[in-house]
Amino acid sequence: MDNYQALQQRLKAEPKVWLVTGVAGFIGSNLLETLLKLDQKVVGLDNFATGHRKNLDEVKSLVGDKRWANFRFIEGDIRKKADCEEAVKGVDYVLHQAALGSVPRSLNDPVTSNEVNISGFLNMLVAAKEASVQSFVYAASSSTYGDHPALPKVEENIGKPLSPYAVTKYVNELYSDVFSRAYGFHSIGLRYFNVFGRRQDPNGAYAAVIPKWTAAMTLNQEVHINGDGETSRDFCYVENAVQANLLAATTPVENSEVFNVAVGDRTTLNQLFHAIKDALAEQGVTYNRKPVYRDFRAGDVRHSQADVSKAERILGYQPQFHIFDGISLTMPWYIKNQ
Ligand SMILES: NC(=O)c1ccc[n+]([C@@H]2O[C@H](COP(=O)([O-])OP(=O)(O)OC[C@H]3O[C@@H](n4cnc5c(N)ncnc54)[C@H](O)[C@@H]3O)[C@@H](O)[C@H]2O)c1
Repeated sequence: MDNYQALQQRLKAEPKVWLVTGVAGFIGSNLLETLLKLDQKVVGLDNFATGHRKNLDEVKSLVGDKRWANFRFIEGDIRKKADCEEAVKGVDYVLHQAALGSVPRSLNDPVTSNEVNISGFLNMLVAAKEASVQSFVYAASSSTYGDHPALPKVEENIGKPLSPYAVTKYVNELYSDVFSRAYGFHSIGLRYFNVFGRRQDPNGAYAAVIPKWTAAMTLNQEVHINGDGETSRDFCYVENAVQANLLAATTPVENSEVFNVAVGDRTTLNQLFHAIKDALAEQGVTYNRKPVYRDFRAGDVRHSQADVSKAERILGYQPQFHIFDGISLTMPWYIKNQ
């Protein structure tokens, strides 16, 4: 039995109370689904800025009414201290996912990204500390590596941020560190690398590449590649990120820590295009158009690949899904939800 299976058994035997912020979003709703399936009690906080009620409805139908009764939803905003204080009441573990994602969004509106991702984060951190929760795990980001050229990325070597979004995620790490030193309140940041899977929003100007291209291909629309297509990423299926969260929440730490969460692999956008096309073809959706290449996008790093050995060593993290497994598992959902 691996670490994650052992943890799942322990949690089932002794259920805990979890707070998932950003619960109506992509990663948050996947955390909710897994936790409810493990018979945990979950409090969820979201203001539907980028998340959707339909994500919660889908989780409800997947877990059934009995398990859904273990979920309490608070419609609220992390920018409001009172909402954060209400959400952390009686909670063992916090999985803080709420934030405004997307590099381009932060370039267009840095002020709102700052308010949500920094002030909102700080509200959550203070509320969690005051409530003496057992652990606080938050969504950090690979964007913190910024312009540091080394590959693969190791946690201690970061460069200068390339976008306001990256600044906000780095500031989270700084606050986490200061709260550890100043108050002895330790927390764990998970630097996600391009997470993808079911319920990731394909719509809107700020959609991520996999849902955006998948939606375009299923509708037989143009697929745009920013740059020459040789930009690469360590795409991480959401189940790997869920595993990292559960392991991190239940691993005691003596300091603030950050961990890369990915697979340790690198896929170019050109390879990704073909992988999605092939996976859709397996589901009977054929796409015969060629991709349309356009300018590189401001604020994007050229290559990204994680060294996940720190998470393996300290958390017992073992990513179970390679990008191509994840894409095959995700496509039926996009076809059904088109
Ligand atoms: N998806 C990725 O590849 C990726 C990579 C790195 C980091 N992250 C981080 O992971 C977290 C989750 O991302 P996601 O991909 O699920 O995005 P998402 O947009 O689907 O989820 C974010 C959720 O937070 C909620 N939210 C936003 N502002 C809020 C506020 N003021 N108060 C309460 N709720 C608020 C949104 O409504 C949404 O439901 C974010 O912190 C994001 O920055 C994601």
